[in-house]
Amino acid sequence: MKIGSLSEDLNSEKRISLTPEISKKYLDLGIEILINKSYGIHLGFHDSDYKEKGVQILNNIDEVINNCNSLLQVNLPEINYINKLKENISLIGIFNPFRNKEKMDLLLKKRINIFSLDLLPRIARTQSMDVLSSQANLAGYKAVIESFNEFEKVVPMMMTAAGTIPAAKVLVIGAGVAGLQAIATAKRLGAIVFATDIRQASKEQVESLGGKFLSIEGTEDLETEEGYAKETGEKFKLKQQKLLSDTLKKIDIVICTALIPGKKAPRIINEKMFKDIQAGSIVFDLAVEQGGNSAYSEIDKVVNKNGVKIIGYKNILNKLPLSATNLYSKNLYSFFLNLYDKEKKDLSINLKDEIINKTLIENKNI
Ligand code: NAI
Repeated sequence: MKIGSLSEDLNSEKRISLTPEISKKYLDLGIEILINKSYGIHLGFHDSDYKEKGVQILNNIDEVINNCNSLLQVNLPEINYINKLKENISLIGIFNPFRNKEKMDLLLKKRINIFSLDLLPRIARTQSMDVLSSQANLAGYKAVIESFNEFEKVVPMMMTAAGTIPAAKVLVIGAGVAGLQAIATAKRLGAIVFATDIRQASKEQVESLGGKFLSIEGTEDLETEEGYAKETGEKFKLKQQKLLSDTLKKIDIVICTALIPGKKAPRIINEKMFKDIQAGSIVFDLAVEQGGNSAYSEIDKVVNKNGVKIIGYKNILNKLPLSATNLYSKNLYSFFLNLYDKEKKDLSINLKDEIINKTLIENKNI
């Protein structure tokens, strides 16, 4: 078995799938690992670090493609590389299948086994593989750090001889994985934190982190059996807008993380609500790529609207690619272990296994 991994476009993706440390784990299973030259150099992983572990460094991406029978990536390869892939190989990564139809069709035509880890079921067995959680956790942390960096006041309360500076007030909208980490981070840095979510179950988690939960009446039935959020109706939206408009008047920083799986991001802060936000405040929209939770947010821009800065990055993980890579490569390895038959020394695609079944993309599910 030969596993390859290709350098990705560094303009949009700095994470990689294989660190030298994780490569060693595959090698210990008797698997060969192939990467192209300078694969991890931008993260400080030299070719010699990989070589020392036993990884084969090939001259270029084409050589890796020609010699491997499984590929580990973060994103889907570029079309010119997809065209060169051999038939029937396996490809594992985070592929957003519903938004990458053209590439998916090409891969399926080549009968490539595509495993997309964004489709993992959130069950106990997948915790160590859960790429969305590991990455959203870091995203929630970094959204707070970036917002505090743009904020032109101090965050914690400071008592000085010249007077007292009050602590900044942060509102986190959506208390899922990214939201809870945002609450914990803002709290640690001395902010007063408020949070809201449509799942009543999140109230306890917010409070256990020291946040104040803002409840909206009628939230009881907005959670699916799997624990995810449902889309809200117009009546609920109005109630939420009223509550948030009142809250926004006293808030300095808003971190938006609301998400409904498989849907466009819910619009929570509309244009009209901006009149309630004080100049000097920050709105950080983590959902910008899915259409945004906030009006005015634009991908990879800091927009200034009457003194309020609205920030949104397509891939905030590029701002901490080393931590994101360390977690991602471990998630991938856990997923791979579940797929690998140590006796046959090959992948075993057992469709009765819920993890394999749900992540394998076939014609029928795109
Ligand atoms: P999650 O599913 O764990 O949490 C989303 C939360 O939003 C849930 O608790 C849900 O109940 C809540 N929610 C849904 N609709 C709501 C509404 N109308 N009002 C209030 N709360 C609502 O999702 P996760 O993993 O925390 O991701 C959060 C967002 O961050 C997503 O949009 C995700 O795509 C994005 N993200 C962005 C990254 C980037 O680089 N820009 C990186 C990682 C995540």
